[in-house]
Amino acid sequence: MANVAVLGTQWGDEGKGKIVDLLTPSFDIIARYQGGHNAGHTVTIRGRKIVLHLIPSGILHRGKLCVIGNGVVLSPPAFLEELDVLREFGINPANILISHNAHLIMPYHSLLEKCREECLAERKIGTTCRGIGPAYEDKAARRGLRAGDLLDQGWLEDKIRENVLEKNMELVRFGQPSLDPRAVFEEYAGYAQRLKPHIVDVSTLLQQRLRRGQSILFEGAQGTMLDLDHGTYPFVTSSSSAAGGVCTGLGIPPGQVHAVLGVTKAYTTRVGSGPFPTEIPDERGEILSKRGNEFGATTGRRRRCGWFDAVAVAYACRLNGITRLAVTKPDVLDVFDKIPVCTGYRYKGTPLRSFPVDSRVLEKVEPRYRELPGWKTSLAEAAESGRWPQRFKDYLRTLEDMVEARACLVSTGVERSQTILLPRLLRGIADPDQVRAQLRGRLAGR
Ligand code: GDP
Ligand code: IMO
Ligand code: MG
Repeated sequence: MANVAVLGTQWGDEGKGKIVDLLTPSFDIIARYQGGHNAGHTVTIRGRKIVLHLIPSGILHRGKLCVIGNGVVLSPPAFLEELDVLREFGINPANILISHNAHLIMPYHSLLEKCREECLAERKIGTTCRGIGPAYEDKAARRGLRAGDLLDQGWLEDKIRENVLEKNMELVRFGQPSLDPRAVFEEYAGYAQRLKPHIVDVSTLLQQRLRRGQSILFEGAQGTMLDLDHGTYPFVTSSSSAAGGVCTGLGIPPGQVHAVLGVTKAYTTRVGSGPFPTEIPDERGEILSKRGNEFGATTGRRRRCGWFDAVAVAYACRLNGITRLAVTKPDVLDVFDKIPVCTGYRYKGTPLRSFPVDSRVLEKVEPRYRELPGWKTSLAEAAESGRWPQRFKDYLRTLEDMVEARACLVSTGVERSQTILLPRLLRGIADPDQVRAQLRGRLAGR
């Protein structure tokens, strides 16, 4: 079976959680390669909703191994809280492993991030304030603490003391009280006891499993436009959310990533600050927000809403080598007479040939739209009857042509069963029979 990366092609919240859960039966291992508990991946099973932040969205299936790679930044209390929620679902925590080399989010990371965001005032990034950026800063500066450091108390205490004393200087500059290194050490030594059974050498483990013929689904967090290098910098997250992050974030060779499935919302949303060319300034944005329930799964913030941006998604498809898409939430568009789709940008009156690399240019582009007729009927009902409105088929085909990728899955609601498969196109991504069986509720998913 192929190893497949499933990742977002927009600014996050494309519905990755639902798609990963749906495809999980075709894989042995589900692995997160970047990000942290800034992610909020929603899975709804027979009306019961669960939001996963750090643990891969495949965890709701019995017998699947879920791993958190070295590219993830891990908050021990957030991880343990999530484990407790999963216990209520009867999940066996022994199937969840953390890379020895995953960096830890420490209490000073989120404290400093809040201070810095406040100082930036209207220029703020609008981060989740989970300490993600500062933890990756320490990683790059080679002073960060890693999960493996929790296993050696003497070493842990020394490293915490060094870091806290340094961070206290910055906290004091912001007028904040300084932290007590001993108290931070005692807190983390407490977490160490509970985390110890989960900490392993993930890279070696994955390589052994691959040699045995097992398959991996790589679960992306955030989206391509939030990638640290290729997104709308500086309004991005601090990790490599695009496909390039899979190998460094898990310690596996590039040849082991066989395909990349792009998860794409049929319109666009964005949380936090930064350029958003197709953002809708009128009440139609409000309609999308209400119908799509566009409120952050992590922070509860209202997501900004806009029309589908084919320039941005085509850029994401090229960057990640995406030829197949999982299109989510077209049902949210059911009520519109006309649905604009952005087909190009103009800058200072001239059409742009490619996606601008500079956010200051993107901020000023003038999106060009093509208006497509709405289908004005319930896609959720159409999906049940198997009869798709022609106008929806045309909308989908237009999107596919513009981004040069084909939809192999279309999601029309939050439940697993509210999904249409295009089995011929799904081959090479997941086993169509297994996915189909799951839609009918015949597999072990709880
Ligand atoms: P993720 O971060 O990419 O996993 O996405 P989120 O879970 O943050 O946000 C997606 C939201 O849309 C969640 O509330 C999902 O339950 C919901 N959702 C997923 N697919 C569909 C769909 O096809 N239609 C509708 N209406 N909602 C969906
Ligand atoms: P999932 O995985 C949407 C956004 C934040 C902010 C920027 C930087 O659920 O799709 P950070 O806290 O990461 O430093 O914030 O990135 N952001 C997300 N937006 N979905 C997410 O995750 C996000 N994770 C971070 O809103 O603009
Ligand atoms: Mg989300």
